[in-house]
Amino acid sequence: MAVEARAIDPSALEVRITTMRPRHLRSVLRIENQVYPRPWSLGLFMSELALRTSRAYLVARVGPVVVGYAGLLLTDTDGHITTIAVDPVWHRCGIGTRLLLHLSREALGLGATALTLEVRVGNEAAKGMYRAFGYSPAGIRKGYYIETNEDAAGDVGPRRRW
Ligand SMILES: CC(C)(COP(=O)(O)OP(=O)(O)OC[C@H]1O[C@@H](n2cnc3c(N)ncnc32)[C@H](O)[C@@H]1OP(=O)(O)O)[C@@H](O)C(=O)NCCC(=O)NCCS
Repeated sequence: MAVEARAIDPSALEVRITTMRPRHLRSVLRIENQVYPRPWSLGLFMSELALRTSRAYLVARVGPVVVGYAGLLLTDTDGHITTIAVDPVWHRCGIGTRLLLHLSREALGLGATALTLEVRVGNEAAKGMYRAFGYSPAGIRKGYYIETNEDAAGDVGPRRRW
């Protein structure tokens, strides 16, 4: 089913955030291949979903349509955001924000007391969203994204118990 994002008022949008299941992966990969220069494979998503105790993966849906997804890995009390993406048709509708909010709650539920992530230094959209959540730069990893030779900014979220 196709849904026209631009015709919808973002504040009135009904977005459901649920656990990512293997049946969502076809849609997830469709988005993944559009937004990342080095997309994850089906096998990589499958292996992440299999690690149930140390991972949390979510999808955002509008009706039956998967419009975004996000994931987290947990090591002891450190949560690391592994991925977050929204279908370009649905950008700037608040879906990334909703995913990050739910993922932060999941992290808290799993016992995380801190969250970190990496972001391309030129990714102004993502950096704007992370700033709004209180993330701040914690260093640069030179050439981290080997496919484009871009640097990564390692960001940390507010270090506290929510
Ligand atoms: C980053 C991403 C997930 C944001 O998703 P989104 O649903 O469009 O984000 P939201 O609508 O919730 O926007 C949240 C805030 O992010 C910032 N932002 C989002 N898109 C932006 C853009 N194109 N330019 C500048 N700031 C932007 C704004 O501060 C925005 O708040 P505002 O709309 O109130 O100004 C999306 O751009 C995406 O999928 N990008 C490709 C994948 C990617 O880069 N993922 C991050 C990897 S680290």
